[in-house]
Amino acid sequence: MRRKKNDRDGEVRKGDKLIQDGDLVIVYETYKQMKAVTVTKNGEFQNRYGLFMHNDWIGKPFGCKVTGKKGGFVHLLAPSPQLWTLVLTHRTQILYIMDISFVLAYLEVRPGCVVMESGTGSGSLTTALARATAPTGHVYSFDFHEQRAEAARKDFERTGLSSFVTVTVRDIQGEGFPEEFANEVDAVFLDLPQPWLAIPSVAKSLRADSPVCSFSPCMEQVQRTCEALTTKEFRDLRTFEVLLRTYEVHEECLGTDLGLDDSVNNDNDSESAVRSPRSSPPHKRLCSVESKVIDSEEDQTQVSSKDNLMEKGPKKGRSRGEQLPSSLYPIVARPEAEAKGHTGYLTFARRAV
Ligand SMILES: C[S@@+](CC[C@H](N)C(=O)[O-])C[C@H]1O[C@@H](n2cnc3c(N)ncnc32)[C@H](O)[C@@H]1O
Repeated sequence: MRRKKNDRDGEVRKGDKLIQDGDLVIVYETYKQMKAVTVTKNGEFQNRYGLFMHNDWIGKPFGCKVTGKKGGFVHLLAPSPQLWTLVLTHRTQILYIMDISFVLAYLEVRPGCVVMESGTGSGSLTTALARATAPTGHVYSFDFHEQRAEAARKDFERTGLSSFVTVTVRDIQGEGFPEEFANEVDAVFLDLPQPWLAIPSVAKSLRADSPVCSFSPCMEQVQRTCEALTTKEFRDLRTFEVLLRTYEVHEECLGTDLGLDDSVNNDNDSESAVRSPRSSPPHKRLCSVESKVIDSEEDQTQVSSKDNLMEKGPKKGRSRGEQLPSSLYPIVARPEAEAKGHTGYLTFARRAV
């Protein structure tokens, strides 16, 4: 697995979607740093890797690597819903991809569905709902906060989803969902502070046998929502917590004393005796020296840790701790130290027939 072979410096292949003036691209700087940028003729993008001209991006395929004026580079990615959750403007707490994917699956959202949700918030879930219901379905999203609703509408314009979403300003806890949706809706999603107040109007809106989901960070909210759902109008009540374990992938340089001259291998300290080529098989002699997070390469690669586990050997032959050529770096994966913990509980129920 060598990344260089996968890199595409603008080479166009059959079927590629090409970047055009007005397109939204996700500028991938490192795996923890991305920005949403709208490409404009004669536009510029500046970051710590240099100045990039939008004109150089137009006509290149999504996914390509582009170089700036000073030789730094970025990748230009298509704005998928999962990337969008990482770059969108956070006006509120948002749903992330592990909860979103679970919600889409359990709400059985598919093209043609009519889905209602409240509140819209930053539109993170709404974006995924719109992508899943398009082109024949529709998402009706409600938020009582006017500025937030307006900002979300602008985001949907930007992501090209505005014809699949209608954002309306309404107090759903106070007024419920509009009567005109009675028995018309295939799925409802609630992300509200007091979702139990909206449950009677959810019961009216849902078609028979259709699902509802409520997202709440606290167990007390879940308990009250479950109480509200424990009526003859709902069945199949279930609550889940979804936890995601992500892995960091590293190219890890393994220092080896293979090739060290005898003065190094035959010294008398006990550690090197254990590592002597004559007393242990080769893999036992490998020691981790340093690792790099795979988020960019060569000059842009950041060494994430320098936990040199070997003593430095004398500078004869190949010294201990010396890096192997990069073509020999094995790839290793480790769970991320800062894995996301609890986000919330997802409570599902189904409208009784
Ligand atoms: C946590 S945010 C929703 C985030 C959204 N699910 C996302 O993924 O981006 C909660 C939203 O509910 C809205 N809200 C709170 N109470 C409301 C109510 N009574 N009626 C409608 N919206 C409400 C807030 O204005 C806020 O935007």
